[in-house]
Amino acid sequence: MAQDQWTAVDRYIVETLLPPDEALEAALKSSEAAGLPAINVAPNQGRMLQILARSIGAAKILEIGTLGGYSTIWLARALPAGGRLVTLEYDPKHAEVARGNIARAGYADQVDIRVGRAIDSLPHLEREGPFDLVFIDADKPSNPDYFAWALKLARVGSLIVVDNVVRGGAVAEAGGSDPNVAGVRRMNAMIAAEPRVIATAVQTVGSKGYDGFAMALVVA
Ligand code: SAH
Ligand code: DHB
Ligand code: MG
Repeated sequence: MAQDQWTAVDRYIVETLLPPDEALEAALKSSEAAGLPAINVAPNQGRMLQILARSIGAAKILEIGTLGGYSTIWLARALPAGGRLVTLEYDPKHAEVARGNIARAGYADQVDIRVGRAIDSLPHLEREGPFDLVFIDADKPSNPDYFAWALKLARVGSLIVVDNVVRGGAVAEAGGSDPNVAGVRRMNAMIAAEPRVIATAVQTVGSKGYDGFAMALVVA
C-alpha cells in the first residue's frame, strides 16, 4: 500500500514538474535493453542532483558509480560551458552503455568515464581536483573510503552527496550483518567526527522505496 502510493506520487511529481526528456528516457531504455539493474536515481532525484550542482555553480563534478550514466547526465546538465565531470565505474559493460547514453545526451566532451575499481582510480584524481561536487553512489561497504577521498579531493565550499543511506530503515539498527548498512554507519561516524564538514541525512520515499541521501558541505 505505502509503496503504491509513493510510486503514484513520484509519477505525479515527475509528470507535473519535469518536462519530457528524450536523452534521459533513451538512457533508461538502453540500460534496460542491456540488462543493467534499474537502480539509477529516480527522475525527481536526478533533478535534485542537478539543482544542487547548479546552486553551487559546480564546474568540476566527480561521481562514484556510473551504471548506465543516468545520474551522470542529470549532473552534466548542471555544468557550465567548459565544465567537466569524471565518473568512476567498475563494470566495463556498464561503462560501455553509459558511454553511449552520455554521447547521445551531448556530453561526450565533458564527461570522462574511468573504468576500474573506484578505490584505484581515486588517487589519480588528485591532480585534477578540486571537485566542487562529489556524488557517491557505488558499492556501499566502501562508503567510508569514498567519503575520505571525496574530502581529500574537495575544497572549502564543495558539496558531498551520498545515495542510499537509509536502506529501508536498516541504518538505524546497530550491529546488523548487512555490509551495506555497516558501510553507511561507519561513514556517518567518520562524518560526525570530521570538523571540516557540516552534514545531515534526509529520508526519502518514492518509486525506489524507502531510502535517503546524506550531504556534507565542506566549511573549513
Ligand atoms: N549513479 C547511478 C547508479 C549507480 S549503481 C545512477 O543513479 O544512475 C552503482 C554502480 O557502482 C554500478 O554500476 C556498479 O557496477 C558500480 N560499482 C560497484 N562497485 C564499484 C567499485 N568498486 N568501483 C566503481 N564502481 C563500482
Ligand atoms: C542499489 C544500489 C543503488 O545505488 C541504489 O540507488 C539502489 C539499490 C543496490 O545495490 O541494490
Ligand atoms: Mg544509488
